[in-house]
Amino acid sequence: MHVFEAIATRRSIRGFLARDVARETIEDLLAIAARAPSGGNIQPWKVHVLCGASLGRVAGAIHAARASGPLEPDYAYYPSGWREPWLSRKRKVGWDLYALAGVQKGDRAAGEAFHARNFDFFGAPVGLLLTIERDAGEGAWVDLGIFAGTLMLAARGLGLDTCPQAFFAEVGQPIREALPLPSDQIVVCGIALGYADPKSSLNGLVTEREPVPGFTTFHD
Ligand SMILES: Cc1cc2nc3c(=O)[nH]c(=O)nc-3n(C[C@H](O)[C@H](O)[C@H](O)COP(=O)(O)O)c2cc1C
Repeated sequence: MHVFEAIATRRSIRGFLARDVARETIEDLLAIAARAPSGGNIQPWKVHVLCGASLGRVAGAIHAARASGPLEPDYAYYPSGWREPWLSRKRKVGWDLYALAGVQKGDRAAGEAFHARNFDFFGAPVGLLLTIERDAGEGAWVDLGIFAGTLMLAARGLGLDTCPQAFFAEVGQPIREALPLPSDQIVVCGIALGYADPKSSLNGLVTEREPVPGFTTFHD
């Protein structure tokens, strides 16, 4: 697959076929993704692969922890105050997803049920948790983001689909206890991995992008 095609066909997929991904395929994917660059080649990313029983164990721990009270997120992925144009963009994708999921405006229970589909990686056969050590510098977080992007594009090359999920940063503590993970590892994000279900209405979402002049300045 040409790299442009991989980029153009990657979308966040939220409905997966009940088709396993071979361990060898996952290992190939991680090996090619690890070709991602990092400052000083420090390769600060760590990947925890969830498949089989570990998926249910983590989802169960998340349910239980959320039911017992508010949780301290591992870090604030989103800003505390929203401003334009981010607010409108975030709202648009949220409402578009709700419309496809049949969630009505104001129906908090349905909204929460939809949010809970994050817990088990939207039913993907494989969940990846990307973590970083607490003492990593801010640049290492950039490196991890590049690794995640490389991985998602490489997945397309293998006919696989993904959904990045910052949701898991909200529930780092129960995840650390359920797996378990060392306490010095911060959960940066998850990535659902599997084969897209073409019948899932959620997968019909094609998100918009700002045209190039909106985010680019040429300095002569
Ligand atoms: C780091 C990161 C975290 C994200 N977290 C979530 C998430 O927790 N749940 C979710 O459904 N989508 C999540 N998304 C997907 C975004 O909503 C999606 O990338 C965006 O709307 C653009 O759509 P596209 O990926 O289909 O191009 C996340 C994306 C990124 C890059």
